[in-house]
Amino acid sequence: MIKQLLKSVREYKVVSILTPIFVSLEVILDVLIPVLMTKIIDDGINQNDMHTIIMIGGILIVISLFSLLFGWLSGKFAAIASSGAAKNLRHDMFYKIQDYSFANIEKFSSSSLVTRLTTDVNNIQMMYQMLIRIAIRAPMMFIFSLFMVYMINAHLALIFLIVAPILGFLLILIANKAHPSFETVFRTYDDLNNNVQENVRGIRVVKSFVQEDTEIKKFNNISDKIYDHFMKAEKLVALNTSIMRLCIYSAIVLICLLGSRYVIAGSLSTGELTGVITYAAQILNSLMMLSMVYVTCIISIPSIERVIEVLNEKPSIQSKRSPIKEVKDGSIEFRDVSFAYHRGKEVLKDINLSIKSGEMIGIIGGIGSSKSSLVNLIPRLYDVTHGSISVGGIDVRDYDLEILRDKISVVLQKNVLFSGTIKENLCWGKKDATKEDLDRVCKIACASEFIEKFKDGYDTYIDQGGTNVSGGQKQRLCIARALLKEPKILILDDSTSAVDTKTDALIRMYYRKYIPDVTKIIIAQRISSVEDCDRVIVLDNGRIDAFDTPKNLLKHNKIYQDVYNSQVKGSDEHEKRK
Ligand SMILES: Nc1ncnc2c1ncn2[C@@H]1O[C@H](COP(=O)(O)OP(=O)(O)OP(=O)(O)O)[C@@H](O)[C@H]1O
Ligand SMILES: [Mg+2]
Repeated sequence: MIKQLLKSVREYKVVSILTPIFVSLEVILDVLIPVLMTKIIDDGINQNDMHTIIMIGGILIVISLFSLLFGWLSGKFAAIASSGAAKNLRHDMFYKIQDYSFANIEKFSSSSLVTRLTTDVNNIQMMYQMLIRIAIRAPMMFIFSLFMVYMINAHLALIFLIVAPILGFLLILIANKAHPSFETVFRTYDDLNNNVQENVRGIRVVKSFVQEDTEIKKFNNISDKIYDHFMKAEKLVALNTSIMRLCIYSAIVLICLLGSRYVIAGSLSTGELTGVITYAAQILNSLMMLSMVYVTCIISIPSIERVIEVLNEKPSIQSKRSPIKEVKDGSIEFRDVSFAYHRGKEVLKDINLSIKSGEMIGIIGGIGSSKSSLVNLIPRLYDVTHGSISVGGIDVRDYDLEILRDKISVVLQKNVLFSGTIKENLCWGKKDATKEDLDRVCKIACASEFIEKFKDGYDTYIDQGGTNVSGGQKQRLCIARALLKEPKILILDDSTSAVDTKTDALIRMYYRKYIPDVTKIIIAQRISSVEDCDRVIVLDNGRIDAFDTPKNLLKHNKIYQDVYNSQVKGSDEHEKRK
């Protein structure tokens, strides 16, 4: 686990190694300081020797300055190393997530991925900084100081050998008790992020349904849960300091009691007693630092596990070795296909279909009849559970994934625009698109008419999520973006639902005129949107009820007739009544 994380250190290896080196130098100097203080007291103050005081005092100042310098350098390198490693780790995770399939993302949930990329990586950064600095400093300080005390008086060193294990045991006990609460806190962070994301994204709906109070209540519940678990954990961790203090002061009292006896008996000088007391503080302080390292590690272990999960996740959809790199044409064939979402029941059953290249195919069916699920299988947004799908006569799993998706443009039902200009958004479809390219696709998608009306034309800025364009405008921009890829198959999932019927018909007419060789699959709720298709698939509860020309369907298919009657006849009667 740690080995995998260390891969993210990369170019920060040198600073990561320099940090413990400077820490070690700092510790050596810090350990020397009490020795010099002992000398000042015994040889200078007690002997009234001003020359020694000034000389040793001078050395003390120089050593302190160097200790300060090394401390500063180690702190600086530790900060560079840890934030650099965290940057690389975030990069590695983000890179990995780009390869995730929809199923992978759904497994984690997008908000959990956000927490893992932010809070969890921050915890690991903190832990790494502690490990290369404090985790080196504390044990070194402990061992060196204990050795110095032993050199001064072996009996006094025994006090630490008794106090230290008791203290260590108590600190580990506390940290272990706090661990489950920290783990719960980070899991609840996912819920909090989810809640905030959902609320902010849907703020318009929240406001229009006057659901602010419910949303606040929901948020407070999660926030309170985090507070409770944090308090529980932090209360336990706060005990650390109190127990530490108790141990430090008990040890010092014991040293004073025993030490003063040795001073009176003449086997210990006053300078040495002062030295031992200073070492006592250093020893116990280093134990406190070790406990802090331990607590940080305890907090970070769940974070490490969560980050490693992201890094180790196998993208459920990948290109196979030596994949096919060319999509011959836009023909599509489904053979005995069934499909179920992750651990769910089958939503598509026994699908057999054959679509010729260049055909315009409509898909209709009730809400939840698996229309989106069916088309999402073609560019491998999900993989079939059984059966196979071929595009251009070749199984989709045999293609290079990038090439397959490049040749199959999907305008998803839940499509989004990104913050940036219209041009930048469209160019997702083709990086080096010229003005002519943009004009051509915007004409087909009937987007030119409104883009021209914008003062800045293609340079009009789209806010995050496309909130400053209307639903119909957004849909037409998404279609234009998909067309710019010059695909062999164009899939439009309910992508003109917000466009008026007349423009909708015009767009389809342009498809026939300008992209006759592209296979077009149009999912629609409106019967008028599929009326002029070559053939229409009628889906019912995950099964194909019929696949025929609109004319034949109107004659023979009950579902198609029902939809037709409710929409076309209904609106005719409505018109008459008017
Ligand atoms: N990501 C998913 N994970 C699990 N189940 C899903 C997922 N997406 C859809 N489903 C389920 O699959 C079934 C078909 O959904 P799908 O979105 O394909 O229907 P649809 O015909 O496109 O519906 P609509 O007309 O509302 O767009 C539904 O029962 C739905 O609950
Ligand atoms: Mg759908």
